Amino acid sequence: MDKRWMPTIKTTIMRIYIIVFFTLISLSGCYYDHANLVYPQVPCTITTATYSQNVSGIITTNCSSCHSGNASAGAGIKLDSYTALKTYVSNGQLMNSINHTGGIPVMPQNGQKLSSCDIKTIQTWIDNGTLNN
Ligand code: HEC
Repeated sequence: MDKRWMPTIKTTIMRIYIIVFFTLISLSGCYYDHANLVYPQVPCTITTATYSQNVSGIITTNCSSCHSGNASAGAGIKLDSYTALKTYVSNGQLMNSINHTGGIPVMPQNGQKLSSCDIKTIQTWIDNGTLNN
């Protein structure tokens, strides 16, 4: 090979390395690593929700420690049956308490607000008639 071309080829290869290097650096700088995108949560695609399949589970997990059976921590308010829960749907306190609206005590007391998907699930069940299904 003609010796005169060697430096040019080397220089070109160096340039390519440099370009690739800085491209990688700048791309990694823009890497979008929000945890919920890297580890996607179950998407919230709720369009129907039933008491037995969806709502009672959310209440059991988040509310029953205070609002079921003989628990005294819930000021005597029970939410562990369809009939009991429906009372608080009807008077608006269920959604106000979990949405933190209406100026009433926010629920779960001393806990994290329910996920927007859990709230949407309960709202969907109510919108569909608050059925004992
Ligand atoms: C750590 C115990 C605790 C947990 C968990 C809890 N609550 Fe409560 N809840 C209370 C207490 C105590 C009251 C009475 C609040 C007051 O009068 O200040 C209350 C009151 C309520 C009320 C009546 C609000 C009003 O206007 O008087 C509703 C409705 C309610 N809770 C719903 C829920 C729901 C739904 C959950 C679960 C998402 C939940 N709570 C979780 C302790 C709890």
